[in-house]
Amino acid sequence: MSATIAESRRESDDIEQRVETLLEQMTLVEKIGQMSQLNASDGHAPDYLGDALRAGKVGSVLNVADVEIINELQRIAVEESRLGIPLIVGRDVIHGFRTIMPIPLGQAASFNPDIVRDGARVAALEAATAGINWTFAPMIDISRDARWGRIAESLGEDPYLTGVLGAAMVQGFQGDDLTAAGTIAACAKHFAGYGASEAGRDYSVTNIPENELRNVYLEPFKAAVDVGVTTFMTSFSDLDGVPATGNEFLLRQVLRDEWGFDGFVVSDWDSVRQLQVHGLTENDRESAHMAVTAGVDMEMAGDAYVSHLESLVEDGRVSVDTIDTRVANILRIKFKLGLFENPYTDPSRLPPLASDEALETARKAALQSVVMLKNDGDVLPLSKDRVSSLAVIGPLADAPYEQLGTWIFDGEPELSVTPLAAIRDQLGDKVSIRFVRAMETSRSKVSPAFDEAVDAARESDVAVLFLGEESILSGEAHSRADIDLPGDQAELVRRVKATGTTVVAVILAGRPLTLSNIVDHVDAILFAWHPGTMGGPAIADLLSGVESPSGKLPATFPRMVGQVPIYYNHKNTGKPPIPETTVLIDDIPVGARQTSVGNTAYHLDAGYKPLFPFGYGLSYAKYRYDNIRVSADEIGLGDTITISADLSNDGEVAADEVVQLYIRDPVANVTRPVRELKGFQRVRVEPGQTVTVDFKVHTDDLAFYGRDAQLITEPGEFHVWIGGSSETELRTGFRIAE
Ligand code: NOJ
Repeated sequence: MSATIAESRRESDDIEQRVETLLEQMTLVEKIGQMSQLNASDGHAPDYLGDALRAGKVGSVLNVADVEIINELQRIAVEESRLGIPLIVGRDVIHGFRTIMPIPLGQAASFNPDIVRDGARVAALEAATAGINWTFAPMIDISRDARWGRIAESLGEDPYLTGVLGAAMVQGFQGDDLTAAGTIAACAKHFAGYGASEAGRDYSVTNIPENELRNVYLEPFKAAVDVGVTTFMTSFSDLDGVPATGNEFLLRQVLRDEWGFDGFVVSDWDSVRQLQVHGLTENDRESAHMAVTAGVDMEMAGDAYVSHLESLVEDGRVSVDTIDTRVANILRIKFKLGLFENPYTDPSRLPPLASDEALETARKAALQSVVMLKNDGDVLPLSKDRVSSLAVIGPLADAPYEQLGTWIFDGEPELSVTPLAAIRDQLGDKVSIRFVRAMETSRSKVSPAFDEAVDAARESDVAVLFLGEESILSGEAHSRADIDLPGDQAELVRRVKATGTTVVAVILAGRPLTLSNIVDHVDAILFAWHPGTMGGPAIADLLSGVESPSGKLPATFPRMVGQVPIYYNHKNTGKPPIPETTVLIDDIPVGARQTSVGNTAYHLDAGYKPLFPFGYGLSYAKYRYDNIRVSADEIGLGDTITISADLSNDGEVAADEVVQLYIRDPVANVTRPVRELKGFQRVRVEPGQTVTVDFKVHTDDLAFYGRDAQLITEPGEFHVWIGGSSETELRTGFRIAE
């Protein structure tokens, strides 16, 4: 046994011993207290929580980020309660604390675990200065529905990408040493299936068959467990009739028995009591019974546990063993975090907020998250020789708060560098820049300001329109049924385009949008999500060509909202669409005879393709992929195969490309997706250079859950593609021998 493994065994034996010793001293009331997390948001928490803390009736608080208040709460818990158990202090630090990174969906577009890990590291260091030692992130719900407001917080539609990036985020928050100053506990949420909320309506039901649940929705959570995530949060949603907070299958069978998770599970906000609202229990007492039995260790913001667990134990309906198991899970993490040794925070031991380094991390993240969707005639980058005047137009060009996105409790718009400021800074000395906001908000209607925008465009070489959604239009409880650009933005685009001036759209948004009504009226599109504090400089670098766009879509962009849910890794169906069978509505002759023969799966008015597929994103470099090959035509179970392709840059600038590997298992014991992402690499290619990109795939990487809920890799044929998006046609294959 290596020294480090031996050491960590010793450490964990030691922790188990400490947990046991502490449990033996605790009264039932104190145990239940550890299972309770209370809201401490209004600035007077020590006053109104003081007595409960002294009585050992609070295990955790959330929604407080003032270091003095947190230190005082800790002091009461540690010095004035009988057993002196420190609090674990939770906060939604989702994509930054003071320095705001791009929204998670934007970070996912970087396809770069280092970007995600570094962003989380900065967030942890900053949050720790306030005394926060637990964040409610990463959110790793697979989402295939851009209407859902919380897609902004997610890492997109793909289980593998979400798994890799979610694990990197956990590592960024938790670091290598949980006891170190500046590392905080992470939380894998929302377990499980929340992203499938019906019709993209937040909090709606989800209906996910077990096979789909295991093959798609659970994969990223398993990846989080594998890198040692310390906590889980249950989902608000109802999964197949049993809301996640009362779902024993999820919380005990899968999480504990199958995956061996030894951290703790917190409910979502008041979701224990909501079991009654769902219609599963008669009252709070029964809700507490159901949640604690199912495996929820800590109740967030409700009082079902503190009000009812004691009597449930006295009545013999909940055993002391069950309570002890739940409390041990919580104490274990408190010990692992070193809270008993270091309950207090001294901010001077940590780097200052929004340091140059943190801002540079945010700039780099924003840079790699922007996806170029269109660049007709190579109008981008804006060459200084061709462009001497620029019209900067739109509601999001200079909107410091809006560029930060959802969940930015501790962010400060004053720190934001807006695109307008950065463009002026970078180009202002050589290019004349005229700014017309044109719309007060992204939702504004046509107004005389449109004429001013049109004039500015007419008198400029290029018009750059900053469009999209304000930050409040995505995030929790902010779903939309129409995902076009809001307000009269499309009309603004049409009017500006009518001037004949080159039009570049830069779109800041919290979700994929349907862009069909503007895509033909602009020459280029940069999709920048909500890019965070340093969005402006990143966008200016891309517009001016200091850097090349390199982001790729982590979620499919539909043509129209009626196509949703639309995602690349769908099943084939028995009637897959092909161009020959796709007759669109305007092509159907009047009075055409009806037939059920030869029809396939598509919409008459949208076809079957999205506007932009998963994995898509353009560059200023000119890439060519060829020579896909495998290291063996046939391998055995347990072997590893190498799949390679050559990538050449025929363009004139060096740039990063995200090379993607997709696989299909065409015949299996359950139907499998037409393609699945199984690897990706971000590589830099110089002009004129050809690089070989190798992917190593072990047969375990091809495993899936079959009919009997067992994970299997089946022998047989596999198709393989490598390329720059999920629609790549560069294909080869191999077999796994019987
Ligand atoms: C409800 C949200 O669903 C969850 O993601 C968040 O962490 C909690 N509220 C705490 O704010």
